[in-house]
Amino acid sequence: MSADLAGKNAIVTGAASGIGKAAALRLAEGGANIFCVDRDEAGLARVVGMLGHDHTGLTADLRLASSCREVVAAARRHWNDRIHILVNAAAILVREPTLQHSRAAWNLTLDINLKAPFRLSRQVVATMIETGTRGAIVNVGSIEAVLPGRGHVAYTASKGAITMLTRSVAFEVAPYGIRVNTVAPGVVATGMNADLREDPESWSEMLAGTPMGRHAEPEEIAAVIAFLASDEPSFVTGATVTSDGGWTLH
Ligand SMILES: NC(=O)c1ccc[n+]([C@@H]2O[C@H](COP(=O)([O-])OP(=O)(O)OC[C@H]3O[C@@H](n4cnc5c(N)ncnc54)[C@H](O)[C@@H]3O)[C@@H](O)[C@H]2O)c1
Repeated sequence: MSADLAGKNAIVTGAASGIGKAAALRLAEGGANIFCVDRDEAGLARVVGMLGHDHTGLTADLRLASSCREVVAAARRHWNDRIHILVNAAAILVREPTLQHSRAAWNLTLDINLKAPFRLSRQVVATMIETGTRGAIVNVGSIEAVLPGRGHVAYTASKGAITMLTRSVAFEVAPYGIRVNTVAPGVVATGMNADLREDPESWSEMLAGTPMGRHAEPEEIAAVIAFLASDEPSFVTGATVTSDGGWTLH
C-alpha cells in the first residue's frame, strides 16, 4: 500500500483489460480515485464494478482526437479540474510483416499507441499547470522499443516513439514539477497475446528469451506503474523502467 497515492485522481487508459486493469486496481488499492477509460464498454463496466462506487469510467475510442479531448474534459468535470496522474496503457498490436503491413493497420496503431498518449498528455499537462498540480504521467512502452518483434513493425515503431515522447514531454514539464516516465514490460500474460498462449510451442519460444523463464502477470507491471505514479520517485523523470525478467540483458 502506497500512502502517497491517497486522494490522488488518476486517469487510466486501457483499463478494461490486462496491464491497464491491473494498474487501475493497484492505484485504487493505494488510495487513488480512478477514472477508467477503454473502448470495451462491457470490460470497462466490470472493472469499474470491481473498483466500487468511488471510481468511474468512460467508454471512448482513443484513436479519435475528439475522444481524447472528451476524456480529459470529463475527468476535469468529475474532479473539479484536479488531475494528479495519467496512465497511458491502451494500445493495440497488429501482426503483419513489413511488406504486407496495411496502411489501415499502420495508421490505427500509431493513432492509438502514440497519438492518443500525446494528446492526453498534452491536455493533462495543461490542466496540471493551470491548477499548480505536481503530477505524474506513466506511459506503458515495451521492450520492443529496443528489440523489435518480427512482424510488429507499426507496434515496434510506436513503442520506440513512446520512449522519446516520454523524454521530450518530461524535459519540457520538469520545471512545473510534473514527472513523465515509461515502464517497458517484457512478456506479460494479457489479452494482447491470449492467442499465442493457446499454442504451447509459440509460447515457450517467447519465454525462451526471458532469463527468468516465465512471463509476468499484469500485477507485476502495475506495481511499477504505481511506484512511478506515486511521489516516492520524486527525482525520477524521463526514465524508462524495464520490467522484463531479464529479456534485454542479452
Ligand atoms: N502484454 C504484453 O506482453 C505487453 C508487453 C509490453 C508492453 N505491453 C503494453 O501494455 C499495454 C497494455 O496492453 P495489455 O498487454 O494489457 O493488452 P490488452 O489487450 O489486455 O489491453 C489493452 C486495452 O486497451 C484497450 N484499447 C485498445 N484500443 C483502444 C482504443 N482505440 N481506445 C480505447 N481503448 C483501447 C483495449 O480494449 C484493452 O482493454 C499496452 O501499451 C501494450 O503495448 C504489453
